[in-house]
Amino acid sequence: MAALTDPPPLTAQAIRSLLHTASLGRDLRLLAVAGSTNQEAMLLAQQGAPDGTVVVADQQTAGKGRLGRSWHSPPGANIYCSVVLRRLPQTEQLPLIPLLTAVAVALALQDVAGLPARLKWPNDVLLNGRKVGGVLCESAGVGQAGAVVVIGVGINVNGGAGGFPEDLRAMATSLAMELGHSLDRAAVLAAVLDHLEKALAPLMLPSPPPPESLLQEYVRLCSTLGRHVQVSLHGTETLEGLAESIAPDGSLRVLADPPAGRRVDVRAGDVIHLR
Ligand code: BTN
Repeated sequence: MAALTDPPPLTAQAIRSLLHTASLGRDLRLLAVAGSTNQEAMLLAQQGAPDGTVVVADQQTAGKGRLGRSWHSPPGANIYCSVVLRRLPQTEQLPLIPLLTAVAVALALQDVAGLPARLKWPNDVLLNGRKVGGVLCESAGVGQAGAVVVIGVGINVNGGAGGFPEDLRAMATSLAMELGHSLDRAAVLAAVLDHLEKALAPLMLPSPPPPESLLQEYVRLCSTLGRHVQVSLHGTETLEGLAESIAPDGSLRVLADPPAGRRVDVRAGDVIHLR
């Protein structure tokens, strides 16, 4: 893709013109400002928005990250996007959605910017070891509108290092920082949605492939596997050991250091790569 000194503004027309999806983003809502696009998408879903509805915002005032954190969401630079899923896989495969979403983001960054993105378990997207994107999936119960999953994706696209808050500066990056030039956000977003639709399709089959096969690409891209890690489990509890594999439910299987030496399947937690 050509270098852009002054990237074009994000418009619904530009995104639509680049999309190749059958469902995702066919109903597209672009907002100048949202509290959180996940929250907006959930509201729309409760009001009956169709499967595949996508909410995008140019800015978020209350962007949400994993584990109760906030997501840095300044205007005019990045992608903040949420997808409404109404057609859902079997319950045991729901935890694979965030992992497959991270794969879709990594493949999109490779396609659109030629950047070799890797994944930190569970769904951080990294470039050169720094976080460029994240995924936050939220679900809502049954009720009149039925069960819904909202997939939220945040990608740092055109921000510079100085745009990050002090505490993020050492561990965050953007596509522009890695490439040395800015990118058209519409092209990045369309590539993410194209890849996401493809990544989720096998999950929705009446007889989906086994998790090992669904997770093959995730395992290939995951830089956590084979590393010595520290995992924060529930705030205060931590575990150190070797990140051995991904369990069929998407958990990280860790061989704990001696003296415990046992295998632990971590379903949720924060991972630090130690060595
Ligand atoms: C993480 O902590 O890594 C997950 C970050 C997810 C951020 C995205 S931005 C779009 C969507 N709306 C939100 O409020 N959060 C997600």
